[in-house]
Amino acid sequence: MSSRTVIRGGLVVTASDEIHADVLIEDGRIAALAASGTAAAEAWTAERTLDATGKYVIPGGVDAHTHMELPFGGTFASDTFETGTRAAAWGGTTTIVDFAVQSVGHSLREGLDAWHAKAEGNCAIDYGFHMIVSDVNQETLKEMDLLVEEGVTSFKQFMAYPGVFYSDDGQILRAMQRSAENGGLIMMHAENGIAIDVLVEQALARGETDPRYHGEVRKALLEAEATHRAIRLAQVAGAPLYVVHVSAMEAVAELARARDEGLNVFGETCPQYLFLSTDNLAEPDFEGSKYVCSTPLRPREHQAKLWQGLRTNDLQVVSTDHCPFCFVGQKELGRGDFSKIPNGLPGVENRMDLLHQAVVDGHISRRRWIEIACATPARMFGMYPKKGTIAPGADADVVIYDPHAEQIVSAETHHMNVDYSAYEGKRLTGRVETVLSRGELVITEREYTGHAGHGVYTPRSTCQYLN
Ligand code: URP
Ligand code: ZN
Ligand code: ZN
Ligand code: ZN
Repeated sequence: MSSRTVIRGGLVVTASDEIHADVLIEDGRIAALAASGTAAAEAWTAERTLDATGKYVIPGGVDAHTHMELPFGGTFASDTFETGTRAAAWGGTTTIVDFAVQSVGHSLREGLDAWHAKAEGNCAIDYGFHMIVSDVNQETLKEMDLLVEEGVTSFKQFMAYPGVFYSDDGQILRAMQRSAENGGLIMMHAENGIAIDVLVEQALARGETDPRYHGEVRKALLEAEATHRAIRLAQVAGAPLYVVHVSAMEAVAELARARDEGLNVFGETCPQYLFLSTDNLAEPDFEGSKYVCSTPLRPREHQAKLWQGLRTNDLQVVSTDHCPFCFVGQKELGRGDFSKIPNGLPGVENRMDLLHQAVVDGHISRRRWIEIACATPARMFGMYPKKGTIAPGADADVVIYDPHAEQIVSAETHHMNVDYSAYEGKRLTGRVETVLSRGELVITEREYTGHAGHGVYTPRSTCQYLN
């Protein structure tokens, strides 16, 4: 028995096109598009018709950077795969790529198995995994080949967090050389963690313990330096590079220079760097802790350079780095010592709306919105055109988006399992109305109609975005 849905009357927006078209969905996939009102579209029959008149019909968001249940600083990110993927769906995201973690002294396989166990049967939307490589050795390097073959095609390394996730330049070079051979993509947390730890120690010794010092010690120059070093190591290895959570304009300049040289170097930024700043980190009464993440928020003047990078394609992707910790009991672990504040911000539910606001504000075009939030992350991480577009054969991951609805972001109304919103009180134009995942209704006119376990693991091919 085939099941058919037709979405009528909307403006279909993809990374490449804007067309007034009806969309036919059959057995979980996009079957056809036809101009609205034409005989071809009118001839379609379906069990279910969704009216999108006056709305956008867009691909479901692809958030390529989340951390559900991440262990960090003696606690765990507060969203489980169940709560986090449900919140993602509310925000119009239908695929996440989360980071499985290798612990030092353990294999990649153990880490990956543990993340599969956390996610399986619990997700409202589809998911894939990157692998955090914390312990580069001969066994790990061999395992990277196996993981690429089974659909875990990207590996995060850290130039920060000595003693936890940190890799030195030699370990980084070895992993890059391996990925040059096996087709994997190295994702880099580019901050000079060794230098930062010295500055942290010195700041604490001076009695500088408030959250705002987190932003001061994690200097933009140390992000730029690490970005430069990662780029040149990748160049030596002959490997592509994807720099995660870029926040400093000096780091954008490094990426732009490398791209002008023709290198396969890519950059991701996140809504927090586009919409928030060190002003938030400086909020009194320890409120600044809500905005502690790494790389840190920067002074406001960096934002314009990030928007520019997104327009000029020196930055290609906006992901959330969703890594929520409650203010009560979690962020509070760092009262009296900013270095003990768990790093990370919630945002998986807010990304599509915030980027739509950027369209309204004139920072990016409608198609660029879809490109940086859906199509390019799908391509970058080997899921295109199954994910990230609306085209015959693609998974029917579709959002009906009301571009005129007004909303005020608040922890009172959000669905993430965290006791604050980083965007509390922000007024936004545009809102997700209905969400389909593989043709199934997950959000129906602002009601949750999905279920845990609908989302399935999505193995990925290698990067589809190389020069
Ligand atoms: O502060 C952050 N970004 N927390 C999550 C871990 C990471 O480095 O991405
Ligand atoms: Zn990171
Ligand atoms: Zn992250
Ligand atoms: Zn289902």
